Amino acid sequence: MHRETTRRTIFAAAAAAAIAAFMPPVARGQAAEAKTAEQAFKNISELKGTPADQVFPAMQFVAASLGVECNFCHVQGKMELDDKPAKKTARAMMAMTAAINKNSFGGRPQVTCYSCHRGSTHPVNIPPVLDADAPAHPAERAAAPAAAAPTVDQILDRYVAALGGAEALRKVTSRTQKGTIVAGGNEMPIEVFTKAPNKRASITHAPSGESFTAFDGAAGWMGNSGLPPRDMSAAESEAAGLDAEFYLALRLKEMFPQLRRGRPEEIAGVECQTLLGAAPGRPSVRLYFDGKSGLLVRTVRYAESPLGRNPTQIDYADYREIDGVKLPFRWTLARPNGRFTIQIAEAKNNAPVEDAKFAKPAAEGK
Ligand code: HEC
Ligand code: HEC
Repeated sequence: MHRETTRRTIFAAAAAAAIAAFMPPVARGQAAEAKTAEQAFKNISELKGTPADQVFPAMQFVAASLGVECNFCHVQGKMELDDKPAKKTARAMMAMTAAINKNSFGGRPQVTCYSCHRGSTHPVNIPPVLDADAPAHPAERAAAPAAAAPTVDQILDRYVAALGGAEALRKVTSRTQKGTIVAGGNEMPIEVFTKAPNKRASITHAPSGESFTAFDGAAGWMGNSGLPPRDMSAAESEAAGLDAEFYLALRLKEMFPQLRRGRPEEIAGVECQTLLGAAPGRPSVRLYFDGKSGLLVRTVRYAESPLGRNPTQIDYADYREIDGVKLPFRWTLARPNGRFTIQIAEAKNNAPVEDAKFAKPAAEGK
């Protein structure tokens, strides 16, 4: 139990080692893109033909969909073995799910493990009885009048204005931040370095050493002191690249040319405008803007896996103004298998940050 808790914390902090441990050496780095799952792993039948670096995201999706840990299906340390019945059932379920989508949804991945399992190993097939004296079908909410709905441009313009305006934003070209990261009940110091147009590095100072998550302007890498750094997978790198966008507010339309409005949604009682973005080479995103302040309060990005999309939600809070520019001093990143919160105590604009901070160190580990 303690082991599992520790592992969740590691995932939550996005540390590299835990994931790297499951990946064969060939699945790391650039050359990995070419390998298929069956070439990189020992006992693959359902995921044949998918890229090797998609196996782990697919497994995370399965575990989250059923609400279990890896060892529900796997013999620890010997993932290729089929000793556990659940693994064989899971394989049959993958085939069944693919068949449902092929036969009923034109091949679109509409039904996933989560559609039935909803976080449980035993899908429910009987509707629940009412457990309170509330009406069974609350009156449908009246749709928001279309005329009042702001356009994509209005939402973005409001956001930029709420941050301090384009001119003030462009005057800042780098930022250093210090604070704490809270994950799984542990609190550790963290430093975050960002630089225009899109470089970012965060360094967590854990008792066991430092861990790095960085995007050098072109690609992402991760590392722990004492271990060789590893390149992020293409999907991880795309997500890290999004986080690294220094002028995100000014660049959203360029980054997501198809940006369109979504249904308004409430977060903590405040109605938020939502925008949906999708573009090649970027994760699909859903952005939530506070209807009152205009500020970005949530981003959900989706990483594709062969079995379904893994969501990452980032909530931004504690916006404070420095040099005429507002930035969130707190953000919480949550995934199905873990979450962490970063609280910044001190932020400095335009402090010099050398490019070396973002570059992946040579592979012999330090
Ligand atoms: C519900 C069952 C289930 C869970 C939970 C699960 N897996 Fe799997 N896993 C499978 C199945 C089934 C396969 C084989 C897929 C195939 O045949 O293509 C597999 C294959 C693998 C492989 C390839 C092994 C090899 O060499 O052939 C790895 C690695 C793996 N899983 C890792 C994980 C990790 C890590 C987790 C936890 C995050 C996890 N799995 C959770 C069912 C599961
Ligand atoms: C169409 C609905 C549906 C979908 C989609 C679905 N399942 Fe299932 N699954 C079930 C049902 C029903 C059971 C039987 C549960 C029971 O015995 O109570 C089950 C059982 C299982 C079990 C056995 C659980 C145990 O306790 O041993 C595993 C493992 C499993 N599913 C994995 C998956 C995986 C992985 C996916 C996605 C690739 C998936 N399922 C998709 C309906 C579904």
